[in-house]
Amino acid sequence: MFTVDDFYKFKKSGKKITMVTAYDYFSAKLVEEAKVDTILVGDSLGMVFAGNPNTLGVSVDDMIYHAKAVRKGAPNSFIIVDMPYLSYHIAITDTVKNAGRIMQQTNANAVKVEINNLATLEHIKALIAAQIPVIAHIGMTPQSVNMFGGFKAQGRDADSVAMILDFAHRLEELGVMAIVLECMPLDLAQKITQEINVATIGIGAGNECDGQVLVFYDMLGFDSKHKIKFVKHFANAHEYLVTGLKDYVMEVRNNSFPNKEHCY
Ligand code: KIV
Repeated sequence: MFTVDDFYKFKKSGKKITMVTAYDYFSAKLVEEAKVDTILVGDSLGMVFAGNPNTLGVSVDDMIYHAKAVRKGAPNSFIIVDMPYLSYHIAITDTVKNAGRIMQQTNANAVKVEINNLATLEHIKALIAAQIPVIAHIGMTPQSVNMFGGFKAQGRDADSVAMILDFAHRLEELGVMAIVLECMPLDLAQKITQEINVATIGIGAGNECDGQVLVFYDMLGFDSKHKIKFVKHFANAHEYLVTGLKDYVMEVRNNSFPNKEHCY
């Protein structure tokens, strides 16, 4: 099983780290069976699973509910659970309690925290002091969608580049296990990856990162119409599943399902 040490070991050896999201028992089973190194129970579930326009409505209880199912489907995987919006923004004691609940109730291996200001670094310090492994997330951090004025790539001007680089160095100093780099120019992701000893996991950040993460439903092509720039469809789930559903409708209508083999 992948462990916290493997983030560093993979980085040093040049072996790329793979990560895919899962929100439920069956998708977790598939991800584990495919031998993906790590599973992220992302708060993207607020959008992809629940159909909301952003991730802000997701609660700690929602994360615990989904992460418990994922752990049952992937008992041998390294599981990271997102800390949702407002679960690490107020009192530091609340942050530690929220992360502690996630770790204790879901049997996760680490939490992930989005960073967009220096104040959050104090929360990360407290989590690590409480022996909770932290994966940080910088660049286009979806919980900041309203501050960014939309889901926009970051690191496109000098100030933004300097801020992201500064976060990366400070996070390394605090002792995070890995850093997710989302939607930023390839050369910035490459610079961060070269300058720090912590593994970088990219999403929309090019191929110079130490690993990659994608959302399960995006990468398997559940939505054939909405193609995100940085996503590749590694399967065409939409066509495959709709064909199966249409065959079911047809067979019920023409009375060929259920047949004798399906009856008691
Ligand atoms: O919530 C999520 O799924 C994420 C990934 C997109 C990195 O944070």
